[in-house]
Amino acid sequence: MQKFIVTGGRRLRGELALQGCKNSALPIMAAALMCRGECVLTDCPKLTDVYSAARILGCLGCKCSFEGNTAVISAGTLSGTEIPEELMREMRSSIIFMGAMLGRAGECCVSVPGGCELGPRPIDMHLAAMRKMGAEIREDGGRLICRCPDGRPKGARITLPFPSVGATENVILCACLAEGETVLNNAAREPEICDLCSFLRKCGADIRGDGGSSIAISGKESLSGCEHRIMPDRIAGATYLSMTAAAGGEMILTNACIPEMEPFLSVLEQTGCSIYAGSGRIFLRSGARLRAVRDRIRTMPHPGFPTDAQAVLMAALAKADGTSVFEENIFDCRYRHTDALVKMGADIQVLGKVAVVKGVASLHGAKAEATDLRGGAALITAALAADGVSEITGISHIDRGYEKIEEAVTALGGRIVRR
Ligand code: EPZ
Repeated sequence: MQKFIVTGGRRLRGELALQGCKNSALPIMAAALMCRGECVLTDCPKLTDVYSAARILGCLGCKCSFEGNTAVISAGTLSGTEIPEELMREMRSSIIFMGAMLGRAGECCVSVPGGCELGPRPIDMHLAAMRKMGAEIREDGGRLICRCPDGRPKGARITLPFPSVGATENVILCACLAEGETVLNNAAREPEICDLCSFLRKCGADIRGDGGSSIAISGKESLSGCEHRIMPDRIAGATYLSMTAAAGGEMILTNACIPEMEPFLSVLEQTGCSIYAGSGRIFLRSGARLRAVRDRIRTMPHPGFPTDAQAVLMAALAKADGTSVFEENIFDCRYRHTDALVKMGADIQVLGKVAVVKGVASLHGAKAEATDLRGGAALITAALAADGVSEITGISHIDRGYEKIEEAVTALGGRIVRR
């Protein structure tokens, strides 16, 4: 099993171009399944989850090839509408192929998706929405056999009980090729939803209102292909900024999506870091010691503070002067990284959805295991700020969402090797 050896205790200094966004590339790859023409995706991040999506496309008869950070997908004819369970289990995003296949073919056979273990991650909202659009869904031994009796989903008025990102994406995909109009209320407003809709409009879809809570989609007979640049990854950006804030030093982040990162930046600047952001570049300088964040850091749907940045910011605040309080409102079990941070000397108390982080003067290197994608990035963040050497295992979790993270950390002046 591979591991990262990180030598901390030194200030960082460097420049880094932000990778393409995992949580935009994955639904867009599912959307490409609906397109009769060729789709060319630039700035597509080289991640294990992206390659999982490519394998799913392949098993449905699509062609998917990569040239550097460009993915070319052709879905002219499908060879099937069944995704094997082992492929479904590789990531959470596999469930988004349900909406794409129902839109394209009016049927599919899938199973419960995999993904980071952040507590129960049901798909009830996905299934309820697909049923409202006319799909009959039968469960058989863990498999979900879905079929639209008329061979095509129907537009519907849908209100989500919670602005679920994945359920919003599934409805949008299914509705693009449905018969009639779909109105989705209480939709997720994450920037990745807007990027998906931007891609779909280039392919001929009729979508209005994305980025807000109510989205209207008029179904079309078919979609063409297009060329689309995947948006930058705001969570990877938050990660690398947190690393420099934690270790001290200064960095420039280029290819940054600044408006989309505002909910994170507005909290990060409360730690005392100097942040200058403009025209796609973010400059950050971190002094001797961060200040604790006075107000409670509540994770919320966008445009609230992003849950995916909770772990890395917590790692940065482990050495802050004062006590910071986190409240995780999106997932039931998203504090699994705290055990490893405590092993490095952090003082963190978890009480249900609240984590109290009392800043300590120093952290020390330790052996720690990553248990999920963002928790793993938090361990690297803390290791860079710790005195001594840390050994981080379970790094396949990290490779799911960060393209060559060791090269990125090295570009910032950090000392990390993959063994
Ligand atoms: C997406 O997951 C992201 N993943 C997650 O990023 C991100 O944390 C999450 O949105 C929230 O922003 C991808 O885009 C691939 P949800 P998703 O549906 O769609 C509950 C990362 O680190 N829920 O908005 O699964 C659910 O259990 C990953 O990149 C239901 O109860 O998130 C959770 O508590 C981690 N029933 C909450 O809603 C449902 O049918 C939010 O989930 C669907 C969701």
